[in-house]
Amino acid sequence: MAKTLIWSYIDASNDWHTNCNVKIIILLKELELKRSLKVLTVMLMMIMCIPGLFANGQKEDDGKIVVGFSQIGAESAWRVANTESIQSEAAKRSNIVLKFSDAQQKQENQIKAIRTFIAQGVDVIAFSPVVETGFEAVLKEAKEAGIPVILTDRAVDVADDSLWVTFMGSDFVEEGRKAARWLIEKGLTDVNIVELQGTVGSAPAIDRKTGFEEVIKSQPGMKIIKTQSGDFTRSGGKEVMEAFLKAEGDNINVLFAHNDDMAIGAIQAIEEYGLIPGKDIIIVSIDAVRGAFEAMVAGKLNVTVECSPLLGPQLFDAAEALMRGEKIPKRIVTKEDVFPMEVAAKVIDSRAY
Ligand code: AHR
Repeated sequence: MAKTLIWSYIDASNDWHTNCNVKIIILLKELELKRSLKVLTVMLMMIMCIPGLFANGQKEDDGKIVVGFSQIGAESAWRVANTESIQSEAAKRSNIVLKFSDAQQKQENQIKAIRTFIAQGVDVIAFSPVVETGFEAVLKEAKEAGIPVILTDRAVDVADDSLWVTFMGSDFVEEGRKAARWLIEKGLTDVNIVELQGTVGSAPAIDRKTGFEEVIKSQPGMKIIKTQSGDFTRSGGKEVMEAFLKAEGDNINVLFAHNDDMAIGAIQAIEEYGLIPGKDIIIVSIDAVRGAFEAMVAGKLNVTVECSPLLGPQLFDAAEALMRGEKIPKRIVTKEDVFPMEVAAKVIDSRAY
């Protein structure tokens, strides 16, 4: 507005006036530039006053930590308890915003969810990988975006372990060893074993098998005569056990199930076949979920090796520590027990899942 008023007062009737006009134009341009600079400075100051605007590309201005979590699905009682632990712990912490995504057992859905979290600029990404391999590219994308990744429950198989900051969860190899050691302690060293494996390519299926085989290899009488995946589900366990019984029938002495849900499905198949689970066929499984305790109280399952799904508190402790700039351990191992059927009735009411 000021520029227009001055301009209307000047004319270009002689050299002096023309000169004046030129000077005034330069002056006005300088003034305009200065004003633009001022406006720009004020804008920058306003932007910088918004806390955390540039932290990890995150827009949060309320000090909250946004955690994107990609869960495998709901294939077992263990998984349901794990989801509950994560969601209820997030709800307890007022500084945590949880973005939860269910992959319905599909790796492609997990990869999509992680990409969405990256695009949203969350502070931390956490996930329980359905299988070990195939996550390299998306983890690189997260690293490039400056978003730390926490692995919960299951590990990934990547060459560069700087792609994730920590892995919290059970020692699956040790769980397999514990199952085999229990059989040996009970003197069950001359037995035909059938094995119900977890999801093909998943860390617990690979590791539990490894640990179990490592221990039984010292016992020539312990033979795995059939092994197949039941995908960690009750229906899978039942279906595969039916096939094992059809092929081997009374020849089977021991069932090693990679989780309780498959063992419970298999118990049904054994009963329908006309054998007594827990007696005719000794059953060893992993997880220690409530259903396993009920089966043990009923005398149908012999032992369960604990694998705790209660990872929520650890997960958010780690996310908070990361946001405070603290260094956290690369591996956080869950402490676990073994529960034989003899203690089931005493322990069942104290179980949290
Ligand atoms: O990764 C943990 C395993 O996944 C549990 O043993 C099983 O029940 C679950 O589905």
